[in-house]
Amino acid sequence: MFLVAGARPNFMKIAPIYREAGRRDNISCRIVHTGQHYDYEMSQAFFKDLALPEPDYFLNAGSGTHAMQTARIMTSFEELCQKDLPDLVVVVGDVNSTLACSIVAKKLLIRVAHVEAGLRSFDMSMPEEINRIVTDSISDYFFVTEQSGVENLVKEGKPRDRIHFVGHVMIDNLFHQLGELEKNDGSVEFPTSRLKEKYSEYAFLTMHRPANVDSKECFTEIAGALNIIAQDRPIFFPVHPRTRKMIGEHGIELSDNIIQLPPLPFSESLYLWKDAAIVLTDSGGLQEETTALKVRCLTLRENTERPITLRVGSNVLAGTRKESILNAYEKCMKADPGSFSVPPKWDGKASARILDILVNSL
Ligand code: UD1
Repeated sequence: MFLVAGARPNFMKIAPIYREAGRRDNISCRIVHTGQHYDYEMSQAFFKDLALPEPDYFLNAGSGTHAMQTARIMTSFEELCQKDLPDLVVVVGDVNSTLACSIVAKKLLIRVAHVEAGLRSFDMSMPEEINRIVTDSISDYFFVTEQSGVENLVKEGKPRDRIHFVGHVMIDNLFHQLGELEKNDGSVEFPTSRLKEKYSEYAFLTMHRPANVDSKECFTEIAGALNIIAQDRPIFFPVHPRTRKMIGEHGIELSDNIIQLPPLPFSESLYLWKDAAIVLTDSGGLQEETTALKVRCLTLRENTERPITLRVGSNVLAGTRKESILNAYEKCMKADPGSFSVPPKWDGKASARILDILVNSL
């Protein structure tokens, strides 16, 4: 089988599937990296950190408009599939690589398994929503992380026997990485270790969504709220390349108490956010990872395709206006993390469930 990854949020999802496949003799698993993300910090650093081997195939797609990027991935992936004819293509998440590779495989009559299927924000202005819907419209196996995903797929008419509520591979990886961090018992220093030691209380921020950072008006509103929050406690902020560019282009002013960092490897990022008083983010993955570790999360978006994170109490939708963010911040900080609960099947065993199902049915 081919295991496809292209962008940063894919790498932590393929890692546990790859590890699980390695424990079984009846599966041959090749990693295809489309090259959607290519900077060392956005790509190779993750492979190293997650102990993934070099990809078997690297397609070198790079950046561009959505059409250019998707087309480049499709062209190279088609060539690869025609040469190597896998019996199954596993795609994860909702990035352009997920969409591109699922379309190619399906047209070559290769079965497609979508890991993290069925999530819906019902917001078609998000490129990821389009990627999710199109990928699910042609997948053969749907591996679902939360009950809402099952309901969405059933409503869309997908056959029930193809929908498998297995939990979340990203949480498998999270627990694995947490174990690795604990093993190191302080003997490995991160570049940010001193920073963490210096502040007993801090917030952790990630932000990269085009809707938030490409629009000057929206970014300015969010920055206004962040600068006020930073008066309470410092905010550690690893900055995505897109966001770095937009801070410059829009001339966004951020308080000195918002400590800007380069994009961080998975383990260093986890090392910081797991002990944060609150995580502020527009990422999909962090909404879920904070939920799994019962850390307060404030989501800088109007909606979420991951509603279970709201229901269990850890995540609060803040919107993107200054006032709504500050209100959500107050609410979030009042919540007691001890009262949060963890969604069913987020237990570190999703990859094993997925491979059991695939092996039995192939
Ligand atoms: C992509 C995903 C998004 C995911 C995010 C995580 C899609 C549609 N979007 O968004 O769902 O949350 O990854 O990071 O697939 N760039 C670099 N170096 C890199 C990669 C990108 O500098 O290694 C810059 C380029 O200027 C590029 C821009 O970032 O044009 C955007 O990259 P792109 O992959 O198109 O989308 P992301 O915003 O990263």
